[in-house]
Amino acid sequence: MQSEALETEGLSQVDRDENGVAHAFREDVLEGLSQKTKAVPARWLYDDAGSELFEEITRLPEYYPTRAETEILERRGGDFAGLIGRGRAVVEFGSGSSVKTPLLLRAIAPAAYVPLDISGDFLRAAAADLAQNFPQLPVHPVEADFTRPVVLPEAVAGLPMLGFFPGSTIGNMVARTAVDLLRSMRETLGNGSMLLIGMDLIKDPAVLTAAYDDTRGITARFNQNLAHRINRELGGTIPVDKLRHVARWNDTYARIEMHLEASEDLAFEIAGRSFTMARRETIHTENSHKFDRRSQYTLLLAGGWTPVERWLDAQQRFSLLLASATRPRNAP
Ligand code: AVI
Repeated sequence: MQSEALETEGLSQVDRDENGVAHAFREDVLEGLSQKTKAVPARWLYDDAGSELFEEITRLPEYYPTRAETEILERRGGDFAGLIGRGRAVVEFGSGSSVKTPLLLRAIAPAAYVPLDISGDFLRAAAADLAQNFPQLPVHPVEADFTRPVVLPEAVAGLPMLGFFPGSTIGNMVARTAVDLLRSMRETLGNGSMLLIGMDLIKDPAVLTAAYDDTRGITARFNQNLAHRINRELGGTIPVDKLRHVARWNDTYARIEMHLEASEDLAFEIAGRSFTMARRETIHTENSHKFDRRSQYTLLLAGGWTPVERWLDAQQRFSLLLASATRPRNAP
């Protein structure tokens, strides 16, 4: 059962045109595979099958980020309450997780909850789930692409905002895109707002590569699913069994990279166009940047946010950062 608040609210700022999505996918794949270094934007990993595989990844023994971040949320509720205070509207960028979001909401007793997501189905399911557990909390889902500034519902106008962006999804963006997103969030949330954001930490490369190349092969399936999706949706003939999942640590950019590597010379078609891959050549499918305190602070400041506090899990694998909207001011 949905809460009353959920039934009466619902804002869409998304172009729902299926053909638009298919067109963008086609363009990104054809362009990305025509480059000297082949690459496809990571967002295309998340069709229904990809999203389910990612859920499975979060439960893997090697994939520590979800458990570590949940631990911080469980242990630091008192700190959140003190620094964030009660009565804010929590704006979550991406559909709320049934585990993490309730921990935050319980700690800070917000005045309203606004989940933002580009996928209406995920959004409605997450919002309905949440509303059931917090029957008194007004929930105002907004279907929107939050990489651009979003108009928030009238019902939360005037409330102080807390943006919530867990999971270290910011790490899946290159610096320039991450800064654009943080600035966009700043604009969406307005003056006086705060941001609670998860960021994964730099650590032993062996621990990192294990997290992105698990022994059960779930992350490999997640990565290879992109090639299956290309075959299915774009009439491709990629021999997926000849593409090996590779997760490698790039120390220069402090990131784990996922690639699909050809195990032999390949030739295939996509949407009527021919492509070749030499043996050992790869398609770069995802970056997952890792941070230290300085790189986190630099990123937040570049995005218009002043760091306020930083928490780590007991094993110091993952961090949650609280920041406040920086007032525009002249240098220095
Ligand atoms: C969604 N994102 C934060 C995940 C990560 O850890 O970068 C995606 C992922 N890719 C492989 N495993 C998990």
